[in-house]
Amino acid sequence: MICAHRGSLAHCLADPSSHSQGFESFEDGLLLIEDGHVVSIGPAQESMANLSADIPITEHSNAVLVPGFIDCHIHYPQTDVIASYGTQLLDWLQNYTFPAEVAFADANHAAANAEFFLEELLKNGTTSALVLASVHKVSTEALFAAAHQRRMRIAAGKVLMDRHCPDNLRDTARSGYAESRELLERWHGQDRLLYAITPRFAVTSSDEQLILAGQLAAEFPDTLIHTHLAENPDEVQWVSELFPQARSYLDVYQRAGLLRERAVFAHCLHLQQPDYESMASSGAGIAFCPTSNLFLGSGLFDLARAKQQEIRVGLATDVGSGTSFSMLQTMNEAYKVLQLQQQSLSSPEALYLATLGAAKTLGIKDKVGSFEPGKEADFVVLDNTATPLLKRRIQITNTLEETLFAYMILGDDRSVRSTYILGEQAYRRGEV
Ligand code: GUN
Ligand code: ZN
Repeated sequence: MICAHRGSLAHCLADPSSHSQGFESFEDGLLLIEDGHVVSIGPAQESMANLSADIPITEHSNAVLVPGFIDCHIHYPQTDVIASYGTQLLDWLQNYTFPAEVAFADANHAAANAEFFLEELLKNGTTSALVLASVHKVSTEALFAAAHQRRMRIAAGKVLMDRHCPDNLRDTARSGYAESRELLERWHGQDRLLYAITPRFAVTSSDEQLILAGQLAAEFPDTLIHTHLAENPDEVQWVSELFPQARSYLDVYQRAGLLRERAVFAHCLHLQQPDYESMASSGAGIAFCPTSNLFLGSGLFDLARAKQQEIRVGLATDVGSGTSFSMLQTMNEAYKVLQLQQQSLSSPEALYLATLGAAKTLGIKDKVGSFEPGKEADFVVLDNTATPLLKRRIQITNTLEETLFAYMILGDDRSVRSTYILGEQAYRRGEV
C-alpha cells in the first residue's frame, strides 16, 4: 500500500548542534509511505509531479509533521503517582511509588493500566518508549501484550529489586534472572518489541543480582539495559556506602557488566569526570529527564558536558516523578534547565533529543527517529491551531524553527492532532 502525506515537515538527520545540515524541513512537503515505511521526503510540488495519480494524498493543513516522539525513560506503573506532593527521591519512592507498584501483581490491574498508559503516549505523539514495568512478571507481560496489539516500538523490562524495598515488591537474584530471561525469550524481537534488562538502581539490587543481570546482558547482547544513575545526592551517598569497593556509582554497574551500548542510564546529574569518559567509550546513553529532575529537586543535567564527551543523550518524561507525558512539555522544561546553566536549546536540538538522538540512545536509529527512506513511518501531526494562543503565536512565526519553538514552549497533548504508527493513524484528537 502506497500513500502520501502533505504538510510542513521537519526532522533531524544528525545532531543540529554539531552538524549544520542536521535539521531538514519543508514548508510544503510530501512524505511518501509504502507498507508502513518511508519511501521519500521532499518538497510537495516537485514530489507530486513524479507521483502516479492513483496514490492517495492526505492533506494536513495548518500542521507540522515530525517523526514520532521517543521517550527514553518512563515508568508505566507510576501513571497514578504523577503529581504526588512534597518529597525528594528516597522518600518519594517509599511514600508514593512502592505502594502504587504493589498493585501490579494483579494481571487485570496491570492490563487496564497498560491500556491507559499506551493511549496516553499516543495522545502525546509518543510512538516509542523505554519503559520500566514493576517487579512483577505479569506487569511486563501486560505491557508487551498491549504494545504488541498497537504495533508500537516499545522496549521494556521487569524491574529487578531484591533489597531495600517492601517484601511484596522483592524478587531474588535468581528469580529475577529467571523471570527476565523468560520474558526476554518471549518478547524480545517480537514484531517491534524489545527487551530491556532493568535493575531498578544500585540501592535496591544486591551485588549478586547486578552480576546476574550483567550475565544475562552478555548472553543476550542485543537487548537493552535500563536503570537509574546518580539522580539525588542522598542516593549517591547511600550507593557509596553499599558498594565501598566501587570507584563511583557508575563503576558499580560497570563492574557487573552493565555498561555497554544500548545501556540507558536515567538522570546522570552527579557524575564524576571518569564516569563521563567510561560512558562515552562504552557507547552507553543517558536519559535526560528535566521535569522529573525539577519536580524532585534532584539537580540540573549538564547537557553541554555530555555532548562534549560525545555521549548519546535522549529526552525522557520519567512519569511518575516526571510531571507530564508530553515530550513538548519536556522540551520546555529542558530549555529552562539549560538556561539556568547558561546553556541553550534550539528547537531543532530539542527535536533531535526527542527523535533521532533518542533513537540512537536506545539503539533503534536504523528503524525510527527520522523520515529517512526505509525507516518505519511513525509520525505526529502537530496542529498549528490547537489553542487560541498557539495559533496566534504561530501566525507570526517566519520559519519552521520558530514554529517548533512555539510548540516546545506552549505545546502539550492539545497540540497533537493525530499520531501515526507504521503509516496508519493510531490516534486522532477528539475521536475515541
Ligand atoms: N530511582 C529508583 N527508582 C526510581 C523511580 O521510580 N523514579 C525515579 N525518579 N528515580 C528512581
Ligand atoms: Zn525513573
